[in-house]
Amino acid sequence: MQELTLTRPDDWHLHVRDGEMLKAVLPHTVRQFSRAIIMPNLKPPVRSVAEAAAYRDRIIAAIPEGKQFEPLMTLYLTDNTEPEDIVAAKASGFVKALKYYPAGATTNSDSGVTDIGKCDRVFEAMQQVDMPLLLHGEVTDKAVDVFEREKVFIEQHLVPLKQRFPKLRIVLEHITTAHAVDFVMATDNMAATITPQHLLFNRNALFKGGIRPHYYCLPILKHEIHRRAILQAATSGSPKFFLGTDSAPHTRDSKESACGCAGCFSALHAMELYAEAFEGVDALDKLEGFASFYGPDFYGLPRNREQITLVKKNWRIPDELSLTESGLVPLRAGEEMTWQMV
Ligand code: DOR
Ligand code: ZN
Repeated sequence: MQELTLTRPDDWHLHVRDGEMLKAVLPHTVRQFSRAIIMPNLKPPVRSVAEAAAYRDRIIAAIPEGKQFEPLMTLYLTDNTEPEDIVAAKASGFVKALKYYPAGATTNSDSGVTDIGKCDRVFEAMQQVDMPLLLHGEVTDKAVDVFEREKVFIEQHLVPLKQRFPKLRIVLEHITTAHAVDFVMATDNMAATITPQHLLFNRNALFKGGIRPHYYCLPILKHEIHRRAILQAATSGSPKFFLGTDSAPHTRDSKESACGCAGCFSALHAMELYAEAFEGVDALDKLEGFASFYGPDFYGLPRNREQITLVKKNWRIPDELSLTESGLVPLRAGEEMTWQMV
């Protein structure tokens, strides 16, 4: 196949940050996607409808002239979130979900939930008003191996949570393991997003010829067995699995450091990366469902009407995008891509 035309996709998990970084990264997402679920892990996090409204205004102000884009907002769940916050979020119309980070799990998650068992009143309210819960599904227990944090989260927290709230609609974000695939497949009112890096790379990418900080994200890349399982899920045609890039920009300085930040920046070339992953298993015919249909169907939003086109063409990913401070290094910088969005 030389050309691929798809319904315009949406990104169901995205970090756009704020200030200068927001202005630098947002145009790339706007070029490829119509809508995106915006992660609330700013510093301080987006916890109230008022904070989400102000952040949404800043995002809208950063959309390039004449382009269409809809930011879909989320609130950051903390130990202090109240059922009234859920009712207000639902009433706002523009807050589409609540995001759960275990305290200390990842970038700017210090305000995250310290004990998921303490949030039941909030989950009850979410189930009642049908507000989806987006999970960073990893435990933070120091005794648990970093490669097993997702599996242990599912066993220790998600299984009991689903037993307590079977009707609560949950997205297990950026899944990385066969355990996650199996759990999502077997459970009602459960979906998952999948990133391009977890479809294309296994954990060897972190150490290819030396340490590779630009492949470090959380959840961390896993064993090849798990990469194959999530690739199979993404290309299966099941509406439970949909696109969420988790594009998470950090400056070069903050990635290439003795204690580098977690996150891969993929907004530049997300659809090209997904196309390559799907083509690798001869499943390009499944890309449109994954990228453009199952996400809006889950969120109860209309599917987009516009289209995008990708063509078969070799091009080189730039080494860096310039910012005024330190630059921004895209995922797989300097390497060749075989698809290009036109
Ligand atoms: O790699 C990641 N980066 N994982 C996350 O959960 C957060 C994200 C970020 O905000 O940088
Ligand atoms: Zn994320």
